Amino acid sequence: MRKSLKYLVTGAAGFIGFHTSRRLCHEGHQVVGIDNLDPYYEISLKQARLQQLESVNGFSLEIMDISDQGAITGLFDKHNFDRVIHLAAQAGVRYSLENPQAYINSNIIGFTNILEACRHNQIKHLIYASSSSVYGLNRSQPYSTADAVDHPVSLYAASKRSNELMAHSYSHLFGLPATGLRFFTVYGPWGRPDMAYFSFTKKILEGEKIRIFNHGNMSRDLTYVDDIVEGIIRIAEEIPSSSDVPSIADGIMPPHSSSAPFRVYNIGNNQPVRLMDMVSEIERATGRKAKLEFAPMQSGDVHSTWADIDDLFNTTGYSPDTSFSTGIDHFVQWYRNFYC
Ligand SMILES: NC(=O)c1ccc[n+]([C@@H]2O[C@H](COP(=O)([O-])OP(=O)(O)OC[C@H]3O[C@@H](n4cnc5c(N)ncnc54)[C@H](O)[C@@H]3O)[C@@H](O)[C@H]2O)c1
Repeated sequence: MRKSLKYLVTGAAGFIGFHTSRRLCHEGHQVVGIDNLDPYYEISLKQARLQQLESVNGFSLEIMDISDQGAITGLFDKHNFDRVIHLAAQAGVRYSLENPQAYINSNIIGFTNILEACRHNQIKHLIYASSSSVYGLNRSQPYSTADAVDHPVSLYAASKRSNELMAHSYSHLFGLPATGLRFFTVYGPWGRPDMAYFSFTKKILEGEKIRIFNHGNMSRDLTYVDDIVEGIIRIAEEIPSSSDVPSIADGIMPPHSSSAPFRVYNIGNNQPVRLMDMVSEIERATGRKAKLEFAPMQSGDVHSTWADIDDLFNTTGYSPDTSFSTGIDHFVQWYRNFYC
């Protein structure tokens, strides 16, 4: 039997934070979840997730904003965390064109507060959410963590890349073991209403038109939430160490590892789904025909994402096993129970 640990999960009322907290508690760990119930999307969905967590043994919640340094310091003074899984953030690519300040407050100031608290409390492992969006203008597919990622196309992507760089400096300066996970379009029950698969399902069921950007010429490496949680939990036990020194070619440190206790991994499905195939699968799962409206590419978006997950597999044995058909069936079933 594995030792029970005390985890901090930030963003616990969010989509991935909810699933991660529930799974950790089911495995016998203690989870302190924090969230500020940000109104970016319907608060009632966040509250409904928290209601599910209320009855889970080992879970407790504190409503808190990560940009409030005093509150975060007090939280770490009160608890002796073994691991920190940092998922709270202002998510969403398109919203970063409308409200950039929200990304600075949560993703930059908030992240700094988490780093500082981890540093001063000698946290044994910080695992934090990065994003496939950091690949920006890169064209080489599948996306590899060994590639340079210096051309973000949204402030959201820039904030996530900044988090990786900030984490590296803390790993190097203070020996903070930190692992960044670049999530690739996560979907599933209790998901986020701002994401395409979710809004398509809603509109198809309500008989409304759906907008197909870039005339359907897009694809996404869609990753089922249970597979993501499996990856997070496995990586939490793989604490990077400064003895994993990479081989250095021409004196240049590879982007995904370091002489500091720092790693970055892709966490995706490694099987991109074309946008029009996604629509067909939702039509099949709902038993309804979609009404389509074609539109040009949106600013801040990328054409396709595809994760190279060899590194994560080599370190943890992580191998996602949920097909999009199966995953979307689970999602539509949940959606109907929750909303219809
Ligand atoms: N879902 C995806 O496909 C995806 C892809 C790439 C990266 N990510 C990243 O994964 C993480 C989790 O994403 P998600 O899909 O669960 O998003 P989510 O929006 O459902 O969850 C984030 C949670 O953080 C909370 N939050 C936001 N700002 C906060 C603040 N200042 N203080 C405290 N809480 C705050 C929100 O209220 C929300 O409940 C995020 O960091 C996101 O950027 C998600």
